[in-house]
Amino acid sequence: MEKEEATSTESIPLLTPYTMKTFHLSHRVVLAPLSRLRSYNFTAQPHAILYYKQRTTKGGLLIGEASGISDTAQGLPNTPGIWKKEHVEAWRPIVDGVHENGGIIFCQLWHSGRVSNTCFQPNGRSPISSTNKPIQNQQFIGGSGDADSQYSPPHRLTIDEISNVINDFRTAARNAMEAGFDGVEIHGANGYLVDQFMKDQVNDRTDQYGGSLENRCRFPLEVVQAISEEIGCERVGMRLSPFANYNDSADSDPHSLGVFMAEALSQLRIAYCHVIQPRMVTQFERVETRDSLASMRKAFKGTFIVAGGYYDREEANRVIENGEADLVAFGRAFLANPDLPRRFRLNAPLNMYDRSTFYTDDPVVGYTDYPFLEDPV
Ligand SMILES: Cc1cc2nc3c(=O)[nH]c(=O)nc-3n(C[C@H](O)[C@H](O)[C@H](O)COP(=O)(O)O)c2cc1C
Repeated sequence: MEKEEATSTESIPLLTPYTMKTFHLSHRVVLAPLSRLRSYNFTAQPHAILYYKQRTTKGGLLIGEASGISDTAQGLPNTPGIWKKEHVEAWRPIVDGVHENGGIIFCQLWHSGRVSNTCFQPNGRSPISSTNKPIQNQQFIGGSGDADSQYSPPHRLTIDEISNVINDFRTAARNAMEAGFDGVEIHGANGYLVDQFMKDQVNDRTDQYGGSLENRCRFPLEVVQAISEEIGCERVGMRLSPFANYNDSADSDPHSLGVFMAEALSQLRIAYCHVIQPRMVTQFERVETRDSLASMRKAFKGTFIVAGGYYDREEANRVIENGEADLVAFGRAFLANPDLPRRFRLNAPLNMYDRSTFYTDDPVVGYTDYPFLEDPV
């Protein structure tokens, strides 16, 4: 089996090795961050050990699911935190499991901002944001349809409060390192808090954190700087989705926003920039577009990861072959195919994902029961 798999890798760009700062990756198939809503009491659970281990290969890069950085960060039920000692302890065996199988795992640091409800907030307070404008588009994941499953109007952060949130990110990054993660990815995509500062259709501030592109990117870049100081820039990545409008978070000039961030992140010398393809205007549907990430790719000198809509091996191979990206992150394909790199190696068919079990609290069904390829006889 080993022999058969070893012989065919040369011609598969996705399966060629790649070095990202100090990390020696044996292939370019990355696990995208995937919230699975199975972390009871906002704490990672033992069943995640198997889930992540199943998706680990020697020298493969995994990005953990969005993990809340503070008690105001949550906006979905059963998502894990990384702000308390108990969270660190809960993550440790999961990270150890990945390391035992030779993988590399980053922790995605997340604050939902206004994509939340008072029921998730300490003392029932309002969620926080760059703005006090509520989300109009009420599409609550895992919501029951009652008042608790609507997004609550947010509180606009004051300048002092902004620096507290930056500190929360810093502490969460330190916690992630204590849990054994190899690095952290700042969640700056999909309309959550960091994105709510960047996008001009959300951020309506008139202070130094709003208005010009430079001002809107100030908070995201201060978060990156604080975390880099804490754990070293070579262990930091950032996820961006300048072209997306999920969670009512759109920008009137996504090209300029994307290039501005890519240049700034390049100067901060972080390990990677992870960008969602413009075709993913909504979270899960691909649309036709002429927009591309070429200018961001050019502006960022570190490792460039692309994600969004990759299921097909040939398409992802082409992206690597053409130099459009260094690595490709797979969300739904990896969710449904724990042995995705091996399937790519063998050009084997992929399991189809079951959307109805993306966000349940079942510790097995739709989580760790997707079948592996049978071993060839
Ligand atoms: C079940 C599910 C959970 C997700 N959770 C996260 C998350 O925690 N953080 C994040 O940045 N993106 C999250 N995403 C978005 C994915 O990382 C990815 O960008 C998206 O699924 C598109 O890629 P794909 O076409 O390969 O699935 C999630 C997607 C799915 C399907």
